[in-house]
Amino acid sequence: MQGLADDQVCIGDRYRIGGAVFEVTQPRVTCFRVGIRMDDPQMPALLVSHHRPGFYFRVLTEGTVQAGQEIIKLASGPEGMTVAEMDALLYLPGHPRQQVLRALRIPALSAGWQASFQEMLDQPGGAAGNAGLTDASPPPAWPGFRPLAVTGIGRESETVISVHLADPGGGSVPAALPGQFLTLRLHPDPAGRPLLRSYSLSGPPGARDYRISVKREEHGAASQFLHTRVRVGDLLEVAAPRGTFTLRPGQAPILLISAGVGATPVLAMLHALAAARSTRDIWWLHGARRRADEPFAAESRALLAALPGAHRHICYSSPGPDDIQGRDYDTAGRLSAPVLAALDLPRDADAYLCGPAAFMADVSAALAAGGIQAARIRTEVFGPGPAQTPGIAPAAARRPHPPAGQPGSGPMVSFARSDLNARWDPGYASLLEFAEACDVPVRWSCRTGVCHTCETTVISGTVSYAPAPVDDPADGSVLICCSQPHDDLVLDL
Ligand SMILES: Cc1cc2nc3c(=O)[nH]c(=O)nc-3n(C[C@H](O)[C@H](O)[C@H](O)COP(=O)(O)OP(=O)(O)OC[C@H]3O[C@@H](n4cnc5c(N)ncnc54)[C@H](O)[C@@H]3O)c2cc1C
Ligand code: FES
Repeated sequence: MQGLADDQVCIGDRYRIGGAVFEVTQPRVTCFRVGIRMDDPQMPALLVSHHRPGFYFRVLTEGTVQAGQEIIKLASGPEGMTVAEMDALLYLPGHPRQQVLRALRIPALSAGWQASFQEMLDQPGGAAGNAGLTDASPPPAWPGFRPLAVTGIGRESETVISVHLADPGGGSVPAALPGQFLTLRLHPDPAGRPLLRSYSLSGPPGARDYRISVKREEHGAASQFLHTRVRVGDLLEVAAPRGTFTLRPGQAPILLISAGVGATPVLAMLHALAAARSTRDIWWLHGARRRADEPFAAESRALLAALPGAHRHICYSSPGPDDIQGRDYDTAGRLSAPVLAALDLPRDADAYLCGPAAFMADVSAALAAGGIQAARIRTEVFGPGPAQTPGIAPAAARRPHPPAGQPGSGPMVSFARSDLNARWDPGYASLLEFAEACDVPVRWSCRTGVCHTCETTVISGTVSYAPAPVDDPADGSVLICCSQPHDDLVLDL
């Protein structure tokens, strides 16, 4: 195709070619494949920074199209916003609010790009980074790890205890967003390697101390240590609250769906809603084995009782002899697709899910089948997140391991969710390549600092960039596809 330059064509322009009519919907999204085709891995970044992305057409009227036919402009898009301007607004630094509002006034703009710009507008105050490309959260309240004192330990169920962590100096801890987690560096064996484990905050956001709630895993190194050896008065090394599984603003109904100890982050959200005296329609849906295994049973009931729009449905897969249906639980069995379907949940709800991976996959599918948009279903995984590797055939997941060959001589790179420490080897071009060599699950698309798909939370340490990202990630996050560790690094991967 000749002509139709990106700095002349506008989103919403309409063209006739042969018998068909088209409308310009969005700039083309570049991925790493264009780099392979052009034999230059940096090509996705070059196309964006040189304002040459290309664009997509929506077919308004089907018809026969042939090479050599004239392209006739039928109408100009509202706002006169060129493809190049639109692409720069999403990917390049700046994102002026007036321009974002202008983009949102163009009905022809694709739903995905509309959602990205809406995310930019909704970005919480103080949050840095490109909210149009990835979830953003405020910068961490302190760098790396700091000591916090254990000020209380309480039992929540047969297998779950809560641990309160406070400033040893007596001050208040910085507020967290509801749904965020802490990462602890534990030393069960002073001579051995430290353990890095994350725990969602389960208490009210804005309290003077933090509360985490830990399930005792039968052979779990960290949870056994926390259950059996940590005492009130001990100091633990704790990284600041992080995470983007947080309650979104708005008035839409909310589904808080959890199984077992996965209740922790959604309980913090319930606390926040109760503190704000929310009048939203709020559904607390929880699955446990039986009453003795249901953490926060009394606490969640008390919070729900104070909320005018609250609904509750509890499933026990294996009710105890004293558990009474109608009092302790509603359904005997798992919190499953048929149970959710029978509840007639609101379709315009924001859903927050936390629990075992299979549970979240089933519930997500059931919610989507019930008409809830995928973008409104948010999940928190208590372990490595799912990999996202576009165009690469899925391979059987391998347990993360140090890279093959001699250990590197560079800084120590710790992948916290994958429970792996490995020394950096400068033979790798990026942390992404290094993580791949370790079979750590990763997400990426452009592999050269444009799309932010690889944006990863840093728990401690710093990186250098080569090449530089097109737009900076949020404070406290890195783009692993174009960065290398500068010193010892702990990544939330
Ligand atoms: C963002 C985030 C939030 C989280 N929030 C919470 C939370 O709120 N509450 C919570 O309890 N957890 C939470 N987790 C999980 C937590 O970080 C730990 O993964 C969990 O406590 C298990 O750690 P561990 O060291 O006890 O188990 P590990 O030693 O890491 O073992 C993991 C699993 O393997 C099994 N295992 C280990 N060794 C053996 C063996 N020799 N034989 C058989 N099985 C074995 C263990 O039973 C365990 O189930 C969260 C994780 C993330 C990433
Ligand atoms: S994969 Fe696109 S920015 Fe890293």
